[in-house]
Amino acid sequence: MRIVEKLEDAAAWCGRYRASGLSVGFVPTLGALHRGHASLLERARAECDRAVASIFVNPTQFGPGEDFTAYPRPREKDLALCRAAGVDLVYLARAEEIYPPGFQTWVTVEEVSKPLCGVSRPIHFRGVATVVTQLFAVVRPHRAYFGAKDYQQTLVVRRLVADLHLDTEVRVEPTVREADGLAMSSRNAYLDAEARSAAPRIRAALLAARTRVLEGETRTAAVLDRLREVLRPDALLELEYAEVRDATTLQEFPDGVVRSTPGGVVIAVAARAKGTRLIDNVVIPPDGPASP
Ligand code: PAJ
Repeated sequence: MRIVEKLEDAAAWCGRYRASGLSVGFVPTLGALHRGHASLLERARAECDRAVASIFVNPTQFGPGEDFTAYPRPREKDLALCRAAGVDLVYLARAEEIYPPGFQTWVTVEEVSKPLCGVSRPIHFRGVATVVTQLFAVVRPHRAYFGAKDYQQTLVVRRLVADLHLDTEVRVEPTVREADGLAMSSRNAYLDAEARSAAPRIRAALLAARTRVLEGETRTAAVLDRLREVLRPDALLELEYAEVRDATTLQEFPDGVVRSTPGGVVIAVAARAKGTRLIDNVVIPPDGPASP
């Protein structure tokens, strides 16, 4: 496994792969890697000739007062996980090169960045869209892999790839979970025992809400009542948002009545477990259940 820090070296290695006719699969990450990341890396490894990972705690997607400084950076452990997943190249991007003096170009995916996480994190998706575009320009991957846990992020990335005519196929892989249903996340490391025991209620609440929809409930308010009943927001689990939305546009359903849409319905939650912000979702395709 090759490890590079310079942008120029990452671009050269990926360029060489392409020039040799090899397909490149890419997984951008913030590091603090876990089994969710490993599943994306293994998928890239299985589907492409070369698997490339980037590790970069991207400052521009963290708002003021968020956990940019505290974000875990377990370098050696991350590299070991990449090695075990069969990664060929790890790009440890440097902020000085990604955002050099004079930097002033941003990628803003307008509508789909606004609701849900965009409300409490107004600059987050601009930071994500910008760094993903930059990393795609360096790596020029044939395929890039993203996790369904960050559902809104997958829509932002799909949109920017389409709108900027980028030659990369976006793949979205299922959320990897702990045995009790909690979505794996680097931020789970912040949870103490009490918060960790409350956190799986997020998944349980989403599943209960999904059941309501599958039983034929069309009033979003009733679906969300059920969600809150199971979530039992309290001091351990504070609800930031719970929404039932069109899964393609993230728009609300007119009059609060769920209608069949081509992309289906997404139910999405952000909650704080004793201060740690956790997100999760379920997608209900137009023709019934699914979505792990
Ligand atoms: P990060 O949170 O490190 O996640 C990197 C990728 O791993 C994302 O596509 C995310 O959706 C996926 N992932 C995280 N937890 C997962 C899980 N439990 N199951 C499956 N996939 C999971 O998302 C980012 O980094 C950043 O915003 C980034 C795209 C790298 C831009 O900076």
